[in-house]
Amino acid sequence: MHSFLLQSLFPFLLIASFLSINVKLSLCQDDAQFTNCGSSINCGGVGNISYPFYGVNRATYCGQPGYEVQCLNKVPVINMKGLSFRILEMNSTTTPRTVTVARLDYWSTICPPTFVNTTLNFSLFDYGSGYTNMTFYYQCNINNIGLSKQCNISNTVSTVFYVPFPTVNQPSYVSCTDEVIVPVYTAAAEAIVASQTTVSDAVNRGFPLELQINTDQCNKCEESGGRCGLNTTTNSGFSCFCRDQAYATICYETTNSIQPGGGGGGGGGSGGTFVPCHSLVNYTFGTPSYFR
Ligand SMILES: *[C@@H]1O[C@H](CO)[C@@H](O)[C@H](O)[C@H]1NC(C)=O
Ligand SMILES: *[C@@H]1O[C@H](CO)[C@@H](O)[C@H](O)[C@H]1NC(C)=O
Ligand SMILES: *[C@@H]1O[C@H](CO)[C@@H](O)[C@H](O)[C@H]1NC(C)=O
Ligand SMILES: *[C@@H]1O[C@H](CO)[C@@H](O)[C@H](O)[C@H]1NC(C)=O
Ligand SMILES: *[C@@H]1O[C@H](CO)[C@@H](O)[C@H](O)[C@H]1NC(C)=O
Ligand SMILES: *[C@@H]1O[C@H](CO)[C@@H](O)[C@H](O)[C@H]1NC(C)=O
Ligand SMILES: *[C@@H]1O[C@H](CO)[C@@H](O)[C@H](O)[C@H]1NC(C)=O
Ligand SMILES: *[C@@H]1O[C@H](CO)[C@@H](O)[C@H](O)[C@H]1NC(C)=O
Repeated sequence: MHSFLLQSLFPFLLIASFLSINVKLSLCQDDAQFTNCGSSINCGGVGNISYPFYGVNRATYCGQPGYEVQCLNKVPVINMKGLSFRILEMNSTTTPRTVTVARLDYWSTICPPTFVNTTLNFSLFDYGSGYTNMTFYYQCNINNIGLSKQCNISNTVSTVFYVPFPTVNQPSYVSCTDEVIVPVYTAAAEAIVASQTTVSDAVNRGFPLELQINTDQCNKCEESGGRCGLNTTTNSGFSCFCRDQAYATICYETTNSIQPGGGGGGGGGSGGTFVPCHSLVNYTFGTPSYFR
């Protein structure tokens, strides 16, 4: 009799137990913000572009305002004060975090259509160490003031002079229509002077920028297993996205927290006490309560 009852109920119990497991597993699903902020920006194979950057595959709440990245022709680009910079590399292990960027208008050319000085939004970035201000002089009243190349400006061939390191005294008789400062790595500037690299290659190597964020705050969040992001309540400031929810600083242990049970379903199973996700599967499979 007992075994007959068990036999006839078996299919139902099987379904019920699967439903019950599914209900409980759904409680274990990682927080969407935690999941979405887990990957770096996927653009042109430039790796490791992560917090405080957002855009492309990273939701707005995975970064901080102003650090939006666009993917243009497989190039990660950030815009700042009317200039576009391509991100060549990000290093999140430095304090503060750093990126190497290059001006998009000077990419593989030193003859851009318009002449604009490099300017930063200093509330977002500052210059890193190991760079120098290379200066380009366009349309000068003299033919020889040092290193030079030819440019086509308004369909006219004209000489552009470049000075890898800032000069102390520029002769007063030299006058140029345009002067543009483009930072390069000091090592690249030295390589130009030593004729070991071309000016365009030096510019293409970019220059270092430090991110103006609270690095310590983000590192602590990540060390606790979280992912750094934006406080979505206030749409400003920091939040630490953790497996279970967002916290203001770091992820907390949830093992001891009591939460309302998600409906035991069917018969038996767990009661109203929250069971930590990692032991839930074992708990459900390991307690054949239907057959007791
Ligand atoms: C990302 O960073 C890690 C650790 O710093 C490094 O080993 C890896 O090469 C980087 N990946 C890319 C694509 O730059
Ligand atoms: C600098 O960036 C901040 C943060 O995104 C922004 O609020 C501000 O308007 C920017 N300043 C300029 C001059 O673009
Ligand atoms: C990041 O910076 C650290 C410290 O300067 C350096 O050791 C490391 O090689 C850099 N990582 C990458 C991927 O450039
Ligand atoms: C760039 O900055 C230099 C030095 O401040 C200045 O002399 C020059 O006129 C600026 N160039 C442009 C295009 O604004
Ligand atoms: C480079 O020029 C910028 C202004 O364009 C200035 O803020 C910065 O201090 C200069 N850096 C060096 C190393 O000369
Ligand atoms: C300038 O433009 C002319 C005609 O478009 C071209 O033949 C010449 O090679 C160009 N010179 C440079 C230095 O780009
Ligand atoms: C968001 O900011 C508010 C106001 O500063 C703060 O009370 C709250 O704890 C923050 N929430 C998170 C998840 O960071
Ligand atoms: C499940 O239980 C086995 C043995 O009882 C244990 O080794 C394993 O770590 C447990 N798995 C989880 C996810 O708790």
